[in-house]
Amino acid sequence: MHTFYLFSIILYMLTKKQVQVLDFLKTYRSKNDYAPSLEEIRRKFKLASVSTAHYYISKLQDAGFLNKEHNQPRAVSTVEAKQTVEIPILGAIAAGQPIEAIEIPDETITITRDEIGKQGKHYALRVQGSSMIDEGIFDGDIVVIRKQEVAENGQTVVAVIDDNQATLKKLYRENGKFRLQPANPTLFPIYRDEVEVRGVVVKIIRNLESQLDQGQSRDEKYVRKIDYSWDYRGEKTKSHTHGIHTYPAMFIPQVGRRLLETYSKEGDTICDIFCGSGSALVESRLIGRNAYGIDLNPLAIFLARAKTTPINPQKLTKEYLALLDRVEKIKDKEIQRPNFKNIDFWFKDKVIVKLAKLKKAIREIKDEAIQNFLMVAFSETVRYSSNTKTGEFKLVRVKADKLEKHDPDVIGIFRKHAEKNIAGMTDFYKDAKKDSWTKIIYGDSSNDNGIKANSIDCIITSPPYGDSRTTVAYGQFSRLSAQWIDVFDDPDDASGVDNDLLGGRATKDLIHTLSSDYLKESLEKIAKQDEARAKDVLSFNLGLNECLKQAHRILKPRKYFCLVVGNRLVKQVRIPTDFIIAELAEKIGFTCEDIIVRNIPGKRMPIKNSPTNIVGALEETMNKESIVVLRKN
Ligand SMILES: C[S@@+](CC[C@H](N)C(=O)[O-])C[C@H]1O[C@@H](n2cnc3c(N)ncnc32)[C@H](O)[C@@H]1O
Repeated sequence: MHTFYLFSIILYMLTKKQVQVLDFLKTYRSKNDYAPSLEEIRRKFKLASVSTAHYYISKLQDAGFLNKEHNQPRAVSTVEAKQTVEIPILGAIAAGQPIEAIEIPDETITITRDEIGKQGKHYALRVQGSSMIDEGIFDGDIVVIRKQEVAENGQTVVAVIDDNQATLKKLYRENGKFRLQPANPTLFPIYRDEVEVRGVVVKIIRNLESQLDQGQSRDEKYVRKIDYSWDYRGEKTKSHTHGIHTYPAMFIPQVGRRLLETYSKEGDTICDIFCGSGSALVESRLIGRNAYGIDLNPLAIFLARAKTTPINPQKLTKEYLALLDRVEKIKDKEIQRPNFKNIDFWFKDKVIVKLAKLKKAIREIKDEAIQNFLMVAFSETVRYSSNTKTGEFKLVRVKADKLEKHDPDVIGIFRKHAEKNIAGMTDFYKDAKKDSWTKIIYGDSSNDNGIKANSIDCIITSPPYGDSRTTVAYGQFSRLSAQWIDVFDDPDDASGVDNDLLGGRATKDLIHTLSSDYLKESLEKIAKQDEARAKDVLSFNLGLNECLKQAHRILKPRKYFCLVVGNRLVKQVRIPTDFIIAELAEKIGFTCEDIIVRNIPGKRMPIKNSPTNIVGALEETMNKESIVVLRKN
C-alpha cells in the first residue's frame, strides 16, 4: 500500500524529446491559436507512428506541463501559469553503503512549485544503489529533499553518519539510538548513537530519460561506446599519495593509469592541462612517465607538488615527531594571527590560536619539501576545524546551534591527516620511478605556458564541467586553506580565483565563431529560457577552445589527447560537451578516434553479472562521463 502511494507521487522529469515536443506545441499554438494534430506532431519529429506522438502528449500531461482535461491533441494547451522552481542537484546519495557526503552542484532540475509545496528550501540528489527499492526509489532516480534537521519516525531522510558519510534511509528512534532502515528486505539496518539529518525526501523523479528516448535518437555525428570495464567500481582510489587532501572532481587513479598505459609509453613526456590536485601526475610518476601539470588554482598547484615530490619517509617521520613536540611549547603570545577578511566568521578564536601555533611550528622546518608536505595536512586541518560544513565544496557555515557546540580538536585532526599522508608518501617513495620528473606550472591553459611546440607525447586531462559559479567552485573550495598557507601574497586575492577559471566571466553577448553545431543547438535552447546562463556556457566553451588550440600546439603529431568530460544539464538542456569537444578539436587539427562512456565513480552496475566489457552500444544518460580520445593529425 505504502509502496503504491510512493509510486503515485513520482514526478517525471522531462526528456530532451519531451522538451522539444513541448516547445513545438507552444510555438504552434501561439502562431495558430490551436494545437497541432497528432499527425502534425508525428511528421515534425519523424516519429514512427501517431501513437508515439500520443505517448509524448500523455507524458507531458502526466508531468503537469499540458492541461489534462482534453484528450484530443488539437485541444491541448500548455500550462503557462504553473510556477516552476529550479532545484540544484548537489551530487549523489547512496541508497546502499554510505558514501562521502560531498556536494557538487553540477546540474539543476526544474519542477512545478505545487509538487513540492511552498515551504522550505530544497535540493536534489541522484540515487545510487538499491537499498530503498521497496519505497519505489531506484538506482539512477533523483530525489528532491526538503532541507531540515529533524525528521519524524519513519520518514525517508538524507542521513550523515560517522566521518561524513551520507546515506538515504528511513529513520527511526529506538531505545535512545537511531535505526536507519533500508527498504530492501535483503539488507540490514544501521544503528547509530548520532545521526545528522540533512533533509527529508519530498519527491522522487524517475530516471526514464534513456528508456523513453530509445530508438528515437537522431543520427549523431559521433558514437558513444559504453564500456563498463572503465568503471573500477569498488576499487581502492586512495593508494600512494592519492589519498592526500580532497579536491573536487578528482581523477580515479585507475582511469588515469589506463589512459597513460594505452596512449603513452615508458619514458614519454605527458601533460595534464587541468591537473588539479595532480592525480594523473602521481600515476605518471609511478609508471615512469615524465609529466607537466598546469592549473590556475594556486591550492591545486600546491597539492600537486606535494603529492608528486618523493620524500624519504624516515626523515619525514622524524620531522613530524619533532614538530608535535615543538607545537606544544609555543606560547599564545608568540603566534601571528593571519589577517584576512572574515577570519572570525569562519574560525573560532580558540581554533585560530591553535592553527597559528601549528603553522608556526611547520614553518620552522628547514627542508622545504617536508615543510610543504606537512602544510598539506595543515590545509586539511584548516578545512576540518573551520566553521564550514565539510560535506560541501562551496563555503557554507554550519548553523548557529551547531556552531556553539563546535569544538574541534585541531591537533588531533592534524595528526590524523599527517599520519595518513605519511603512510601514503611511504608507498609513493618506494614505488615512484626514480628517473622520471614532474613539473607543475601555475598558469592558464588557454595561453602559452612555455611548453615547447610538438614536444609532448600524450595529454590526458579532465576539464571542469562548466563555469565555477554554477558547477564546482574550485576557488571557493580552496579559499580558506589558501589564505592560511600563504599561497597568495595578499590572502584576500584567494576570493578571485573562480573568476579566472574557464567560464569564470560570462560573455557580453551570444555572438561567436566557434564551429560546433552541437554547441549552437545547446546555446539556442538555453538562451530561450535564460540568456545569462547561455552566456556562461558560451564563455566556458570559448575558453575550452583556446585550451584545445594550446594542446594541439604542444602535442607531437599523431599523438593522443584524452579528455574525461561530463555532459552537464543546464536549464534541462543536456550539453553534449563530448561531442562539442570533438567538433571543435576536429576544426583545430585533431581526429576524434573514440568516445568511451564510463559510469561515474560509485555508480552501480546496471546488471550484477553483466560482462565487464560491453562495447558498441549507444546511450546517453546521467551518472556517466565520456572519455574523448583525440589524435593530432
Ligand atoms: C576537474 S578538475 C581536475 C581535477 C584533477 N584531475 C584531479 O585529479 O585533481 C579541473 C581543474 O581545472 C582547473 N582550471 C580551470 N580553468 C583553468 C584554466 N583556464 N587553466 C588551467 N586550469 C584551469 C581548475 O582549477 C581545476 O583544478
